[in-house]
Amino acid sequence: MPDHRTRQHLADLLLEPATAAGGFLDTLGDAPQAGPATGLAQRLMRTTLLPQVYERYWRPVLGRVLKGPGGPTMTGEVESATGLLALRPGHVVLDVACGTGRFTRAFGDAVGPDGLAIGLDGARSMLVRAVEETDSPAVAYLRADAVEPPLKSSTVDAICCFAALHMFAEPERALDSFTRILRPGGRIVLLTSARRDWPPARIADTAAGIISGQRMFDRGEIAASLRARGFTDVGEQYFGVAQMVSGRLPDVR
Ligand SMILES: C[S@@+](CC[C@H](N)C(=O)[O-])C[C@H]1O[C@@H](n2cnc3c(N)ncnc32)[C@H](O)[C@@H]1O
Repeated sequence: MPDHRTRQHLADLLLEPATAAGGFLDTLGDAPQAGPATGLAQRLMRTTLLPQVYERYWRPVLGRVLKGPGGPTMTGEVESATGLLALRPGHVVLDVACGTGRFTRAFGDAVGPDGLAIGLDGARSMLVRAVEETDSPAVAYLRADAVEPPLKSSTVDAICCFAALHMFAEPERALDSFTRILRPGGRIVLLTSARRDWPPARIADTAAGIISGQRMFDRGEIAASLRARGFTDVGEQYFGVAQMVSGRLPDVR
């Protein structure tokens, strides 16, 4: 259960008041989900069953299928994200679409008790599970829309958004929001879909995206989006139908 000081730290960064509910702060009230529905995958995340099996079975198995045999393990993903964000004690890090908090907890360990790791998600059931799984004085959870996180501008040192950008109704608007929230010099890392180039595979990937309600981004598309928003040191890795893209804002805007 997050402690009072951590939750107050998060409340101080918010643009709007939030209600405290079930161990997390909530800015969505009675709304069943954040933003417009985008399809099957997003709807599944709101069920009560999926969060129970998500971290141990669902994410590792589906992740392996999508990343292919050469992609990183779950531990590897967490290590890559933590490393690419260059997290240090005292940092504020935002884990967008945190699910059950696998990455948020690791970020909490990296930023320590003087820092803050915020896990943001739109699904109540995911956050309930995340709170149950978390025992860190540095972690606080927030129920909010990932496309427009209600955080003050230039308040966050690092943003992670794994396995979710392709589910959002407006991913480009989400990237605008992330850029606004990050401090100068802030870092971002994203793991999302990457449609393959070979034409038959491309057709299959596009069809799978339509059926599951998830956007299939092209290779290079996310990197170009980050560069267009002023990010530098943009790094890209591709495995299977996934891409991990990172970048850093200049020290002075
Ligand atoms: C596949 S999970 C990813 C969880 C975690 N980041 C990981 O890599 O395992 C996607 C998460 O995105 C959340 N999500 C989808 N659309 C959202 C939105 N518009 N706002 C907030 N959360 C959203 C879902 O509730 C779900 O928990």
